[in-house]
Amino acid sequence: MKTALILNGPNLNLLGTREPHVYGAQTLDDVQALCERACMANGFAMDFRQTNHEGTLVDWLHEAGRLHTAGTLAGVILNAGAYTHTSVALHDAIKGTGITLIELHISNVHAREAFRHHSYISPAAKAVMAGFGVNGYALAVAGLAGMLDTK
Ligand code: DQA
Repeated sequence: MKTALILNGPNLNLLGTREPHVYGAQTLDDVQALCERACMANGFAMDFRQTNHEGTLVDWLHEAGRLHTAGTLAGVILNAGAYTHTSVALHDAIKGTGITLIELHISNVHAREAFRHHSYISPAAKAVMAGFGVNGYALAVAGLAGMLDTK
């Protein structure tokens, strides 16, 4: 069984209390439970993580690259939070690994402030998911399964 690695960046630990009109009322624990169900339904083992630190995300992407090389990784679903809009380091880490990565945003970043319209992740991602609320995580897991089926 391959692993879906679901990575969450800065401030996503505040889900549930952080701008609920934008991100909804569900907590990160709720999102993890939702992802667990989606992974089980799609035949993936799940590894779900959150960090507020850019370098930790880089290290986790490198780890994903090693799992990819070993043939045990289905892919990565990454909500990089604000680092989406700032991080050349994350862009380079994804490009350097050859992993299948889905960029995910709970909100529709394109309907928000202009500084959220640019993503350093998108050019390195296989797909982008935005604006479905936290249910986007389940949709991304199903999307990842679909990508592997059509390989
Ligand atoms: C986000 C959108 C980003 O612009 C923001 O900085 C976040 C969350 C989202 O899930 O909608 O932290 O990635």
